[in-house]
Amino acid sequence: MRLSRFFLPLLKENPAEAQIVSHRLMLRTGMIRQEAAGIYAWLPLGFKVLKKIEKIVEEEMARAGSIQLLMPTLQLADLWRESGRYEDYGQEMLRIKDRHEREMLYGPTNEEMITEIFRGTVRSYKDLPLNLFHIQWKFRDEQRPRFGVMRGREFLMKDAYSFDVDEAAARKSYNRMFTAYLNIFSRLGLKAVPMRADTGPIGGDLSHEFIILADTGESAVFCHEDLINMPAPGNDVDWDNLEHIFEGRTALYAATEEMHDDARFKAEVPEDKQVSARGIEVGHIFYFGEKYSKPMKAVVNGPDGEITVHMGSYGVGVSRLLGAIIEASHDEAGIIWPESVAPFDVAIINLRQGDEACDAACEKAYKALQSAGRDVLYHDTDERAGAKFAAMDLIGVPWQLIIGPKGLADGQVELKNRATGERLTVPFEDGLAQLSKA
Ligand SMILES: Nc1ncnc2c1ncn2[C@@H]1O[C@H](COP(=O)(O)OP(=O)(O)O)[C@@H](O)[C@H]1O
Ligand SMILES: [Mg+2]
Repeated sequence: MRLSRFFLPLLKENPAEAQIVSHRLMLRTGMIRQEAAGIYAWLPLGFKVLKKIEKIVEEEMARAGSIQLLMPTLQLADLWRESGRYEDYGQEMLRIKDRHEREMLYGPTNEEMITEIFRGTVRSYKDLPLNLFHIQWKFRDEQRPRFGVMRGREFLMKDAYSFDVDEAAARKSYNRMFTAYLNIFSRLGLKAVPMRADTGPIGGDLSHEFIILADTGESAVFCHEDLINMPAPGNDVDWDNLEHIFEGRTALYAATEEMHDDARFKAEVPEDKQVSARGIEVGHIFYFGEKYSKPMKAVVNGPDGEITVHMGSYGVGVSRLLGAIIEASHDEAGIIWPESVAPFDVAIINLRQGDEACDAACEKAYKALQSAGRDVLYHDTDERAGAKFAAMDLIGVPWQLIIGPKGLADGQVELKNRATGERLTVPFEDGLAQLSKA
């Protein structure tokens, strides 16, 4: 992408309404624009990152055996009357009537709808286990939308739903999602800690929230320090035997405020390992058994008669993750994207636009890196060098390739790493070779 042809409406000033750094930086870099309280338009830079996060989530869900579909945003009120949640959900639910006065709602979540799909399509226990997911916009009329995409009213969620014949099988499904989540957040460059959590309006009795520690987090959390740096399980796991991963992570104390037991915390965790901090909830998983399948009659034929299926649901706050990643990774100059989700892999900075040699070298680098499959942003405007550096630091591109007349005279260019700030002068071809590698 050439910056001169891209749409990157950077703000000069820090927006006054933003209270936390991620919100500030997302507005300043023109990633999002507020259209109404808690409702955002995703401008190209933000949309690129959102898509990259989605892709990682999709890949890891597929690896864990979950199958993607897409359910609509609008749902019938009657469906929610079956589970009893139409009344329970209260004012957070956006209720709508169509032209025939039929009551509808903008989905805040999809347990009812997936249960309806399941009961209408799956007949036999032999078709289980089944795990289905989608990535779809949700609406919750939050009383206090704030912090930008962190607590929006319209937000993008990945929600998965598992169906099993009994509790033992459902726990295996739970462990699969538990493991997949550790891998997802690790690929996003985040240290997420699973913590025992309250089940809230979803219901049920087994639940974990995946929490990123950050001072700006909305929840108070308590955990053993060793959980924070535990490496993710990775792909080389036996997806049918994950009990040890679950046990390994849950043996040490970790709980959100609602589930916190201070006496246990103090007794179980050595004093120098007690972390009492604030956290951002980026994922939440639930096992809730027959809570929806029973009232909604989601049953399959078993070897000895009908079985009411055991279900779980598993959410990831896809749009919230942009904010969470920025909270975890930024400095004075702006965002520091992990390479896995950066909007661009490399920014080419032409220090003297209009200079024949500089322009030619930049064009050559632009083409070569694109052919190597890199996502490149070529800063090709005639702004001064300082402004170009500041803009690329601000939007957080992991690598800058700096091309200027002095260096070029000796066949040299500079590589700058955004995260470390390290600058390296190298021969032009070596620079290209290094940046061509993913
Ligand atoms: N208002 C919101 N704005 C952005 N993301 C949200 C919002 N509400 C929930 N999420 C994300 O969706 C995930 C699943 O939601 P869930 O646990 O059902 O909601 P809640 O924790 O609000 O009860 C959460 O872990 C969070 O990452
Ligand atoms: Mg939650």
